[in-house]
Amino acid sequence: MEETSRPHLVVLTGAGISAESGIQTFRAADGLWADHPIEEVATPEAWARDPERVLRFYDARRDQVRRARPNAAHKALAQLEREGFRVSIITQNIDDLHERAGSRQVVHLHGEILKARSSVDERMRYPLPRGGIALGDVCDKGSQLRPDVVWFGEAVPRFDDALELVAEADLLLVVGTSLAVMPAASLLDEAPLATPRVLVDPEASELTTAGVNGLALPAGEGVPLLTRHWRREGRLWLPETVFG
Ligand code: APR
Repeated sequence: MEETSRPHLVVLTGAGISAESGIQTFRAADGLWADHPIEEVATPEAWARDPERVLRFYDARRDQVRRARPNAAHKALAQLEREGFRVSIITQNIDDLHERAGSRQVVHLHGEILKARSSVDERMRYPLPRGGIALGDVCDKGSQLRPDVVWFGEAVPRFDDALELVAEADLLLVVGTSLAVMPAASLLDEAPLATPRVLVDPEASELTTAGVNGLALPAGEGVPLLTRHWRREGRLWLPETVFG
């Protein structure tokens, strides 16, 4: 099929889509930020003050990602793409579970834990050194390597790519995000007015705003439920049996 004639699903994912794979979310009472204050591990200031601590924090995140496997939600999105839909994923997650499930178009807004980058030039990316990043591992400009993740207070380099995708969406599906972090959360408002918006999250009723169709289910149930309807009809729509 022609690229432009295929139905285009744009998906914005957050930590909740990987929760059923065993990766901790951030803002739950037992979430990551409860035990690891943001200002101590995820800001440029934390890196300047105590890079060793920041590196150890991301080592632990990386171990968790490596042990995890894609769940039914990641797999349902990849299957939809295999069956001919155009599926563009914009993820706030730094894990690689969308790619491991088979999704081919994935924009990582907040970077990728399995890569390293220069600490002076975010365009200089490197494969992860064996055994993880150590103090003393440097880029080609001689500066310390750091995890390829976007910290609080830093620009989001791929935001324009995300904006372009959202503008072209036939349906915008948002999965497992508290929509607490800008600019990612603003993407929901950037879709054309006529574009249907769906939010799959157990807390959907608290998170949805006007014009957003909430589905209060875990990602592993809610996403395959929707993709089954879409695959059966070959189009992106809001099934009445799901949304009343
Ligand atoms: N299925 C779907 N959603 C779930 C599930 C599940 N099984 N379990 C929890 N959730 C939802 C929660 O209800 C919550 O709305 O996932 C969301 C997780 O929210 P956050 O922890 O705030 O994570 P996220 O929105 O991805 O955070 C955005 O903030 O800390 C930074 O850079 C970090 O990318 C992250 C960004």
